[in-house]
Amino acid sequence: MTASTSSVLKDSLNKTTFSFDESQRTALFNQVKTQHGLLFAADIKALCAQYTITHDELLRACLPVASLFAVAPISHFLVGAVVVGIDCDDAINFYFGANVEFAKQPLSLVVHAEQSAINNAWLKGAQTIVQIAISDAPCGYCRQFMNELADAEKFDILLPDQQFKLNQLLPHAFGPKDLGNNYSLFNPAPQTQIFEANTDIDTALTKLALTAYVPYTANYCAVKITTFDNGCFYGCYAENAAYSPSLAPLQSAISQLHLAGLSMNDTTVKSIELLQTKGVENQLHVSESVLANYSNLPALIAYSLALIKTC
Ligand code: THU
Ligand code: ZN
Repeated sequence: MTASTSSVLKDSLNKTTFSFDESQRTALFNQVKTQHGLLFAADIKALCAQYTITHDELLRACLPVASLFAVAPISHFLVGAVVVGIDCDDAINFYFGANVEFAKQPLSLVVHAEQSAINNAWLKGAQTIVQIAISDAPCGYCRQFMNELADAEKFDILLPDQQFKLNQLLPHAFGPKDLGNNYSLFNPAPQTQIFEANTDIDTALTKLALTAYVPYTANYCAVKITTFDNGCFYGCYAENAAYSPSLAPLQSAISQLHLAGLSMNDTTVKSIELLQTKGVENQLHVSESVLANYSNLPALIAYSLALIKTC
């Protein structure tokens, strides 16, 4: 079957909708996996030209690809999300995300696809979010998570057949300003502190922990998962004004590892390190719970370091 006959379907409104066939989807999944959950501006341009489709058609067609990254042993419900973000070179990239469930742990520890994609965009250096495409309607928790973003009033939320602004999906919202916080995820307060010196800890981990978005607890923290053969994956704490939709640093790192097509198992993972801020630690027990989901993983190495004012 050719791409044009296989991929153009009529939906219920008799509109044509572009979608990839299975082999195209698998090829794109492999590309995104190799690029750790990213499609770069040049990839987007090439794909639009290859399939003669618009940016938005490609974006929506990427959702079933994103959902292939989901790890959902409880629900078997695979959710995909793609954030369209602008990086510091003004390039527009696609940042993929998918849900992650932990079979033997409380449901509340789950990572939602929207969180995964936003976290991916944040960690990979996106400066501005312009669109978020999702394979299913976002739940209340995700609407609240999105309400913490600097661009919450502006970006478009694309569902397979509809498009919204966040205030249509979350009217009369509670957000950071209600707690007196004028900053937001992607627009954090300037960092005026550094961690006390410690030669045991990777400087990339300390640097990342200082960029955590922690306006409510001040626990600057991050996680590093070192693999045997595929480098390191980092996760960072992203808090939310409503507290529960906060994304913990371990889940952030696990989601990043899955977006490279890897699994949390003992043949992949060599070590897991958590760095927290001395005096305000809150991630040790929850991290241990998440890790109890897996067998034979190395024990969590936890560090606490004091912060020192730089001025
Ligand atoms: N899920 C999402 O990823 N996003 C949503 O907004 C709806 C729900 C996931 C969470 C869980 O893994 C599964 O779908 C069932 O709720
Ligand atoms: Zn959700």
